[in-house]
Amino acid sequence: MKSHPLDALAQQLMAPDRGILAADESSGTIEKRFQAVGIPSTEITRRDYRELLFSSPGIEQHLSGVILFEETLHQTSREGGRLVRILEDRGILPGIKVDRGIKPLPGRPDESVTEGLDGLRERLAAYREHGARFTKWRAVIAVDEQRPSPLALRANTEALARYAGLVQEAGMVPIVEPEVLMEGSPDLDRCETVTTAALDQLFSALQAYGIRLEALVLKPNMVLPGKQCTRPASVEAVAEATVRTLARTVPAAVPGVAFLSGGQSPEQATRHLNAINQHATRLPWRLTFSFSRALQEPPLRMWAGKEERIRQAQELFSQRIRLNSLASMGRYHPDLEKVA
Ligand code: 13P
Repeated sequence: MKSHPLDALAQQLMAPDRGILAADESSGTIEKRFQAVGIPSTEITRRDYRELLFSSPGIEQHLSGVILFEETLHQTSREGGRLVRILEDRGILPGIKVDRGIKPLPGRPDESVTEGLDGLRERLAAYREHGARFTKWRAVIAVDEQRPSPLALRANTEALARYAGLVQEAGMVPIVEPEVLMEGSPDLDRCETVTTAALDQLFSALQAYGIRLEALVLKPNMVLPGKQCTRPASVEAVAEATVRTLARTVPAAVPGVAFLSGGQSPEQATRHLNAINQHATRLPWRLTFSFSRALQEPPLRMWAGKEERIRQAQELFSQRIRLNSLASMGRYHPDLEKVA
């Protein structure tokens, strides 16, 4: 098959020792995160916070892309230029979350489907025009003994495939994110079974829609027990289950896998990413990060809206990015948390 310009873009996103920052929290989500540290959520505070992140020292050495929320794509920096210019000037690709969030699945109110396909073709053309080079769509799969239903898997993977097709048609790289939630009491085995089924079905749908696998990035959950599970899993067991799941389901044509952090603590997410990379010696794709909370918690808490703390917050953020870059090469060690 002939190579395509989008393949090179996907490879650029998955470049060695780099990862992706998810800074695409919707207005509702960022408001909750800000509230937790006592910051009012206004257009200005959201702009200031994202500008703090994007201008942190050295991040361009370890970040290939940043996923933005639509508002950020149109915002102006403190100095008056476009906020995305800060990223572009540092060689970091701007991306955008394009889904419209999750809604109850008709007939299955305890499950969800992601909305946003109507009018997406027109929105994508506008995002591309404003500098977006890649996109994200998140599907959410809840797990317990009865869930997910076959219907929830089908509705969500079909939507992901239709989205991916529209994005490639618009000349951007789609990140496809089927998030199996680590909530409730399911154990590691149950999470592995469900993640395997979700990825299997996702790649069948992507193939059915003729999606170019070389020009997309997969953003899955790591395989983890639910937060209320009474049988914790070791770092090694998580790495083994995650790598086995991907090896069984993800075609070799896909250039890379960028994990979400899913509510893990920053250190836990880094440790798991590192163990996954140490475990994965003969796999065809890159395995890296596309975290939101696990990268942003330390700087957000440090900043807490205070001008005089910007520098320290940026240092914490740059440190997390650097440590996760090491983990994406299997070269992280917990001792680095102290010295960095
Ligand atoms: P977390 O890393 O906080 O799970 O967020 C990743 C993300 O982009 C969710 O869509």
